[in-house]
Amino acid sequence: MRLLSVKLNDFKNYTGQVVRFGHRFTALLGSNGSGKTNVLEAIAYLCLTRSYAAGSDQNSIRSGQDFFSISGEFEKSGQRYEVKCTYTQGKKEIRVDGKDCKKFSEHIGKFPVVMIAPQDISLVWDGGEERRRFFDQLLSQVNKNYLEDLIHYNHTLRQRNASLKSLRESASGDHDLPDFYAAEMNGPALRIMQERERFIAELIPLLNLYYSSIAGLGEQVSVSYHPDLQGLVPIEHWKSNRDSDLRAGRTTAGPHLDDYQFLLGDMEARRFGSQGQQKSFLIALKLAGYEILSRLSGVHPLLLLDDIFEKMDEDRTCNLLKMVSGKNFGQVIMTDSSRDRAMALSGKAGLEIGVVQVKNGLIE
Ligand SMILES: Nc1ncnc2c1ncn2[C@@H]1O[C@H](COP(=O)(O)OP(=O)(O)OP(=O)(O)O)[C@@H](O)[C@H]1O
Ligand SMILES: [Mg+2]
Repeated sequence: MRLLSVKLNDFKNYTGQVVRFGHRFTALLGSNGSGKTNVLEAIAYLCLTRSYAAGSDQNSIRSGQDFFSISGEFEKSGQRYEVKCTYTQGKKEIRVDGKDCKKFSEHIGKFPVVMIAPQDISLVWDGGEERRRFFDQLLSQVNKNYLEDLIHYNHTLRQRNASLKSLRESASGDHDLPDFYAAEMNGPALRIMQERERFIAELIPLLNLYYSSIAGLGEQVSVSYHPDLQGLVPIEHWKSNRDSDLRAGRTTAGPHLDDYQFLLGDMEARRFGSQGQQKSFLIALKLAGYEILSRLSGVHPLLLLDDIFEKMDEDRTCNLLKMVSGKNFGQVIMTDSSRDRAMALSGKAGLEIGVVQVKNGLIE
């Protein structure tokens, strides 16, 4: 799959601007705050229907305006597509070749993208919620049954929590409701846990392959999956713990509290990894996800590398660039604030890159 061009109107610091991608590799270069990441953000909107960074759609409108629009020209399996995303007054629309896309969940995955950005470090540093969201997003793109189970589980969980909370506040409610919802959640919970376990097992060999290709040594890396209800039958647990759930006013255990641990050797990456090792781990994790997504979608997703040269030494960066220029990968768009560094490293890796110079919201 190829992105040929993207057009930004009143998006972040861009008034009206077209960016063309004539090469397989493009480097967006420019000083801090010039608008490099904003171009990647715009591409994320077209593929994922939302910004990659945490932030509201409203904040993506150029200050002082009340509307933004982004359109992109894609080529996939020999066919051209125009994808357009507009946002105004709380309403976001996605159109593909002029046709309105009603369900965003159906659009996601049609133009697959993998972004690697500095804020990914929160996957290592923050709590389980970040890691669950990351793996859930990946799994949802590769397995629609998983997505359905997850939606069903989360919906019923909210209902169960509401019933627990209202019973805690007034005992006159329906006391059978929490167990009724628990029975409803049991099937999806079991399948979600099974699928998470299966997916991690599939991911680990790829993670190791990419990590050793980047780091160039035999350090083993791994992800371990920690189900909150390890070894328990969900429905039995929820039934026998109903009283403590009632006191808490919510479901205190279940797959919604599962976690994953990132390991370098047998040490936890969060506590023992250096910044460069953590970054290498995250890149390997994302590339493993890329490969799974690529196999299943049958196209090479777009790879967006934001500030990829920060924190990694020259050898690792060079290994990474060589790898993504291989046949398992497709189009790559990267950013860097140092032109010299970007040119030197891509030269060393033997890449032929198109340069897009960004200056204060203008493409030169
Ligand atoms: N809604 C908005 N309206 C106007 N300007 C905005 C808006 N949102 C962000 N900006 C501006 O966009 C600029 C940041 O752009 P961006 O993050 O793309 O920079 P960058 O080139 O990636 O910089 P760095 O090298 O530091 O990562 C900031 O100067 C910011 O003030
Ligand atoms: Mg940036």
